[in-house]
Amino acid sequence: MAVRYVCYKGINFPPGYNSEQSLRFAETQFRVRDDDVFNVTYPKSGTVWMTEILSLIRSRGDPAWNRAVLNSERSPWFSTQLGLDAAQTCPSPRLLTCHLPLQLFPKAFFSSRAKVVYTVRDPRDVVVSYYHFSKMCSSYQDPESFAQFLEDFLRGDVPHGSWFEHVRAWRQLKGKDNVFFISYEELQQDLQGSVRRLCQFLGQELEDADISSVVENTSFQAMRENDKCNSTLLPRNIMDQERGTFLRKGVCGDWKNHFTVAQSEHFAMIYRERMRGLNGAFPWEWGPDSG
Ligand code: A3P
Repeated sequence: MAVRYVCYKGINFPPGYNSEQSLRFAETQFRVRDDDVFNVTYPKSGTVWMTEILSLIRSRGDPAWNRAVLNSERSPWFSTQLGLDAAQTCPSPRLLTCHLPLQLFPKAFFSSRAKVVYTVRDPRDVVVSYYHFSKMCSSYQDPESFAQFLEDFLRGDVPHGSWFEHVRAWRQLKGKDNVFFISYEELQQDLQGSVRRLCQFLGQELEDADISSVVENTSFQAMRENDKCNSTLLPRNIMDQERGTFLRKGVCGDWKNHFTVAQSEHFAMIYRERMRGLNGAFPWEWGPDSG
């Protein structure tokens, strides 16, 4: 069945949770507090991983609090109506999550001292993860084939818009002292070091044992077993676990198992064009077989 996306200012959003009103409110009227921390990503870049890391940093590595609080309260998804309601009554300091492109992000942020953590991931792994996710999540159109989904992704014709535009726009804020960029690949390569850098950015001093607890509780295995993270509590008509697994593989480079040589060359050509001026800025571009 065809899914009708919510279109707001030219960008499609999955229906059900998002509405034009909630997106407009988030952009133009959402009241940002100076001690807010926003977890911002393009879909499938490690959003839930970062939510878990940030909330565990906040609880000084204590997983009990994370387990006790509903996800919608722990880190409200404030571009949706449900998330907006939760965010507005949420005590400070808030942790807020979204996939909003920069141009739709709350205007009030730009005159505030609130912080943003922006996580970016190799777009080839993003498109593979997005393809599998779209097959299991009912708010997304079931893709016809991987080849078709890849073309749609490269054109920016997928929910939340173009990866290239999302990343390029947010990257303009690099260097601002209230915006922190990190990649999925850095988290994979050095989770402990990444947690330490995040603590520094957030101004939170944690003991070594607390840091170790954050790292242990945010390993792929630990999160896969944690029903606050693995989406298994969602009903089948929202997330069909028989059609896939939300915490699917959790690796870098799975795109190599999905792309043909021709797709990989085509992707590289478009990537070079669309990321002109930024080439060399991201970890997936550095390795010997970066494609
Ligand atoms: P894969 O589909 O490649 O496995 P998001 O939360 O933005 O939707 O991103 C989901 C992706 O992040 C999935 O990628 C998921 O497995 C991965 N992920 C989530 N938690 C992770 C963790 N602790 N370690 C590694 N990858 C993780």
